[in-house]
Amino acid sequence: MNPDLASLQPYPFEKLAKLKHGITPPNQLEHIALSVGEPKHPTPQIITDALLKHLHTLGQYPTTKGLDELRQSIAAWLSQRFDINPNALDPNTHILPVSGTREALFSFAQCVVQRSDEAIVAMPNPFYQIYEGATLLAGAKPFFINCDQENNYLPDYDKVSTKTWKNCQLLYICNPGNPSGANHTEAQLRQLIELAHRYDFIIAADECYSEIYTTEHNKPLGLLEVSQNMGNTDFSRCVVFHSLSKRSNAPGLRSGFIAGDAKVLKSYFNYRTYHGCTMPTPTQHASIAAWGHEEHVNENRILYAQKFKDVLSIIDDSLDVKAPDAGFYLWAKTPISDIDFAQQLFEKQHITVLPGQFLARNTNDGNPGLNHIRMALVAPVGECLDAAYRIKQFIQTL
Ligand SMILES: Cc1ncc(COP(=O)(O)O)c(C=O)c1O
Repeated sequence: MNPDLASLQPYPFEKLAKLKHGITPPNQLEHIALSVGEPKHPTPQIITDALLKHLHTLGQYPTTKGLDELRQSIAAWLSQRFDINPNALDPNTHILPVSGTREALFSFAQCVVQRSDEAIVAMPNPFYQIYEGATLLAGAKPFFINCDQENNYLPDYDKVSTKTWKNCQLLYICNPGNPSGANHTEAQLRQLIELAHRYDFIIAADECYSEIYTTEHNKPLGLLEVSQNMGNTDFSRCVVFHSLSKRSNAPGLRSGFIAGDAKVLKSYFNYRTYHGCTMPTPTQHASIAAWGHEEHVNENRILYAQKFKDVLSIIDDSLDVKAPDAGFYLWAKTPISDIDFAQQLFEKQHITVLPGQFLARNTNDGNPGLNHIRMALVAPVGECLDAAYRIKQFIQTL
């Protein structure tokens, strides 16, 4: 067996199942799961129609590069959404389809990291656990950059030492962040691109929540547009990851793409021909329909914004929490330890939330997930409101 497997941590949901084990919740109350970030709004019919219409293509092997029309529709979407010069984005060299961003975020590290004892992959803390697993299996060490409240829950890049940047080969950023929903500023993204050039590392920007923003004012910036704006017009050292899972309520479609630095993508394409995660042709057609349609994305965004407004109006005087810039999570401070809070909330109100420390690691500066919980507002509005009232009631008993 690969010895690096032993360094993988249990997934947060495994830890959560253990935490709830043996507890009998009040069964007269319907269970509400705010723990899992799986979109629950319906998948738009234009996507399912396109999928069904192309089932006859299952007789052919799809290619690693995917259909030209798919990469063209992605290029058109990217340039329109992020105001990128369409001539600067070549669908043949700057874009690759992936089977959801999870596998891409993982396999990307296997491709770009040169294993050594010094090799570092930097990432936010708390974080999406795939970044850490990808790093360990690629033979590098994760370096966690804490996202504390004092820094608006964004990674504090100024605290990273020169030595760490020198050994850094890959930096994962999550923009907007999971769990905090905080957006990086243009100045921060510029700083990172400058650092990437100075110390020769690649930035992998996980932008899979970029389309769920609460107001136009909070529309997240993309790494590629900032790269273009600062004159890095070939997107050198910049790669973005996008997905239809959250944008289009299609997590089961397993469709996303990666875009950016053509030199990096050429090697990653080579890697993927062996990796073998090609996108089934019906999925590619469904994806073309999805990337070309913004109405459902606008409607989706309105539904989430309303849920944030309604839920916060119930709980914001009981919990230290504010509306995120983007994404569909609330990242709240807890009046007692996050573990106790999650356990007792399940026991008394039959609601599952994710303790923050399950999403974060201990560092010399502490564990930034401690005394926080993540709540995904994915359920229908009625269920989210019910949860909010029950959480408020629970807090009053503490
Ligand atoms: C931060 C983040 N990145 C990536 C993903 C993976 O999404 P998908 O593989 O569905 O594109 C998730 C899923 O929850 C996520 O939270």
